[in-house]
Amino acid sequence: MSHLPDIDALKEEISSFPVDSKENLEAFRLKYLSRKGRITELLAGIGKAAPEDRARLGKELNILKNLAVLRFDEASASLETSTGKKRAAHDDPTLTPPPLLNGSSHPLSQTMEEIKTIFYRLGFTIADGPELEDDFHNFTALNFPPEHPARDMQDTFFIRKEEDHPEKDLVLRTHTSPVQIRLMKNGKPPFRAIMPGRVYRNESITAKSYCLFHQVEGLYVDKKVSLADLKHTLITFARHLFGKQLKYRIRPSFFPFTEPSLEMDIWWETGNKPGQWMEILGAGMVHPNVLKAVDIDPEEWSGFAFGMGVERITMSRYEIDDIRLLYDNDIRFLTQFP
Ligand code: PHE
Repeated sequence: MSHLPDIDALKEEISSFPVDSKENLEAFRLKYLSRKGRITELLAGIGKAAPEDRARLGKELNILKNLAVLRFDEASASLETSTGKKRAAHDDPTLTPPPLLNGSSHPLSQTMEEIKTIFYRLGFTIADGPELEDDFHNFTALNFPPEHPARDMQDTFFIRKEEDHPEKDLVLRTHTSPVQIRLMKNGKPPFRAIMPGRVYRNESITAKSYCLFHQVEGLYVDKKVSLADLKHTLITFARHLFGKQLKYRIRPSFFPFTEPSLEMDIWWETGNKPGQWMEILGAGMVHPNVLKAVDIDPEEWSGFAFGMGVERITMSRYEIDDIRLLYDNDIRFLTQFP
């Protein structure tokens, strides 16, 4: 650029350009803000200015651009209110105003509240813990072997990673199970609590998986707690949430922190889609190594634990087929859950 643009003159031009009609506003946009507009052109040309002028020029052009954008936004907002229906409602004070939109709680919160209520009635208290966890609580105390794939970069968001000292790692918790450890370390058995909260996994974002989601963990530790107690609790819970007619199945599974481990599926049929089994939770009897890690004698105490995915459950109950809808906060979606 051989000479510098006259910013003041441009400012004057932008402030006085008429924007009182749709046509004028469009002419304004084309002239200054469009891809071939004056400001866009000048911004693109900054690189050609003398090096000592570039910083100042960039700053001034940005101010200019903000000015133009502001003028455009204000003019288009006021053109909108001065035409069409809105105007009629404003002008005639005897007309009934349009109804106010009532807020409602998020579908995830609704499911969470129902889950909490059911367990509250079963005698469970509610506990919570931090979302930023250390290696001990998220993995080691839960009997994850040092090379376990779940510790891998693939799944875990590491906040601090020390190659030679994994015990110093800080992570965004990958499940709510670390809260079990905190609960047991800070108290004396028996325990009967649920632990709802956010968890994070470094997975690619798709209709089925998101980088964060919610779980409700459960822990019951007492004398002579058995697998039958676990089954009874899970079935009672599922019948309350999904209805008495519920069809479920319980399959063997694996988790490092429970032995034996199981998963519960429910049969899900909606609308015209064919029915299918859907996994809603993992569970099992607390592994003796976990009890030992928090100084509880596994000869004297036993327990069960479970963890369920709140998104999964919410999506099936409300027939939501894309998990991302739960995080977009699009009002057209949210108003469907009064
Ligand atoms: N933490 C497990 C998960 O995130 C779920 C689980 C919790 C399984 C408690 C067993 C017992 O998948």
